[in-house]
Amino acid sequence: MDNLNEKGDLLPSATGITSAPKRSLLWQYAKLAAVCFTVGYILCGYLYPATRPLSIPTFGCTKSAVSVCAQSGALKPSNEALLNALYEQFADPVFVNKSAELLGASVRIPTEMYDGLGEVGEDDRWEKFGAFHAWLEGAFPNVHATFKKETVNTWGLVYTWKGSDGSLKPLMLTGHQDVVPVEPQTYDQWTHPPFSGYFDGEWIWGRGSCDDKGGLMAIMIAMETLLKKGFVPKRTVLLAFGFDEEVSGMRGAASIGNFLLETYGENSMAMLIDEGAGYSEIMGAMYAAPGVGEKGAIDARLAVKTKGGHSSTPPKHTGIGILSSLVTSVEANPIPPRLTRSNPFYSTLQCIAEYSPELPKKARHLIRASQKSDNALEKLGEWAMHELPAGVAVLPIGPSLMSTTQAVDLIHGGVKSNALPEQAYAVINHRVSVSDSLAVVQDHLVELLGPQAAQWNLSMEGFGAVVSADSDDAPKAGSLVLSDTFGTALEPAPVSPVEGAVWNVLGGTIKTVYAHNDGLPASIRRAKLESGEQISTEINMAPGIMSGNTDTRHYWGLTPHIFRYAHNRPEGIGNGFHTVNEAMGIENFMAAIEFFTTLAMNVDEANL
Ligand SMILES: *[C@@H]1O[C@H](CO)[C@@H](O)[C@H](O)[C@H]1NC(C)=O
Ligand SMILES: *[C@@H]1O[C@H](CO)[C@@H](O)[C@H](O)[C@H]1NC(C)=O
Ligand SMILES: [Zn+2]
Repeated sequence: MDNLNEKGDLLPSATGITSAPKRSLLWQYAKLAAVCFTVGYILCGYLYPATRPLSIPTFGCTKSAVSVCAQSGALKPSNEALLNALYEQFADPVFVNKSAELLGASVRIPTEMYDGLGEVGEDDRWEKFGAFHAWLEGAFPNVHATFKKETVNTWGLVYTWKGSDGSLKPLMLTGHQDVVPVEPQTYDQWTHPPFSGYFDGEWIWGRGSCDDKGGLMAIMIAMETLLKKGFVPKRTVLLAFGFDEEVSGMRGAASIGNFLLETYGENSMAMLIDEGAGYSEIMGAMYAAPGVGEKGAIDARLAVKTKGGHSSTPPKHTGIGILSSLVTSVEANPIPPRLTRSNPFYSTLQCIAEYSPELPKKARHLIRASQKSDNALEKLGEWAMHELPAGVAVLPIGPSLMSTTQAVDLIHGGVKSNALPEQAYAVINHRVSVSDSLAVVQDHLVELLGPQAAQWNLSMEGFGAVVSADSDDAPKAGSLVLSDTFGTALEPAPVSPVEGAVWNVLGGTIKTVYAHNDGLPASIRRAKLESGEQISTEINMAPGIMSGNTDTRHYWGLTPHIFRYAHNRPEGIGNGFHTVNEAMGIENFMAAIEFFTTLAMNVDEANL
């Protein structure tokens, strides 16, 4: 393994001594110590080979807290006969068409979600979920006969398939019933109407076919089929479907999260799978990259108040002018991106270095060297910022994952063209890197804008704390108030463990499913085979990270083992999410059904 070469980085003192002019006794000792250290280090390498997590320092083997992309093997349930029977069923063309028909029918019930809805029970636009619930009952009779169905905040759905052993923590599978709206003026750009759910033999068309009715239907079909084939779980399976994920899940998943916390308590689930990243090729190797973290978010508001008055005798700068200069300053001084070893994106890079043949040599060297060298880590950050290709929607890699981003998305001020504005504000949407925190963003803004507020003779309040007060002795010309605009600031999600039994069951399941059905659309497979391209049956696990948020933000208390993973590959999700011509490839969909089926069986008997 060539990363042994890079151990030199660890021996700076020995290198320093080499250049010492006098080879004293001390030098002899130092040399001996260096040799011992090196031997010890290599031994550590043997004791802690790459396939084991390297985070625990033992015998003085203080390797950096980095797991070099540990992989576990494919995992099949002990009842392989049942698994094979299920797989056979999923390959049956009649069953395939039935599955496509179910997904299409779910798309035909529009469940578009908009900003600014009133409370459930008051605003009747929530009622559309009634039709969806009723349809589910008819479409999945076995699930509805066997599972306990509960509704939370009227439209949230929780299904419980009670296991025979109540001492085992449940498996929790989640998704959302709502979809993003279709812009009416784009209707005519759709190959098949957005709520047609039309199946043309290859694709199921329509809004939600991928996000997230595809996920929800794959879970339901997997459960229905497991039931029909006589599977009896030891471990309880919980299904939880929110209804306003596309507007932050404050009424749906938030209520479900509270309900489950009250019912089961903290840390009560073995594993939670929600929508999220998928699997894809990166630089010559296949990866499944469950999102093990999520960026945080804050909408920071900069509000400037100044004296009003008639604009015939104006000051040199009005409140709008002052606000503009503050906004300019924020844009000119973003929080510097930084790659840290605890960022799951860093782990993704380690995996790419381990398995991707097409990664440039220089990058591979940097990625490996960065395990121990901070200098290499910094250079790697630069490389990832500027040279790494951006990845694909289901498997994002690249700059945004190591940056706290900012976008000035709202500005408001003034009421009349001949009156000085008394109030002006701007809202900056920040997506907070897992290496940063809300406090980092808030401190950054306060430190950046504090001196400027003083220059403008403004009192200042920063996120609830007085930075500089107005007083009778030193009156101010106005005020600057920084705040969390909607009170919805969200810390980056806790990073889920990427070693141990839970991660291995997930990885082992994905490997089994991928080897059996890689989800590639038939037309693309034909083209690949004709051009002589090899189609691999191997897939690696890589910890991924989400740059957006899912409903899982409301489930943090239920388990540390949260994975945002939809078993989708880019070739199988047509044009992507939230777009015109959203469409789900049938092979991709069937692979997702296999994934949930295999996962349920594997998790049932795993020691978690
Ligand atoms: C499945 O559906 C497609 C598209 O409607 C159709 O062409 C095909 O004949 C169907 N196959 C079966 C087995 O029903
Ligand atoms: C700040 O503004 C107040 C009110 O206009 C004024 O009285 C005061 O002198 C100003 N202070 C400075 C340092 O400009
Ligand atoms: Zn979604």
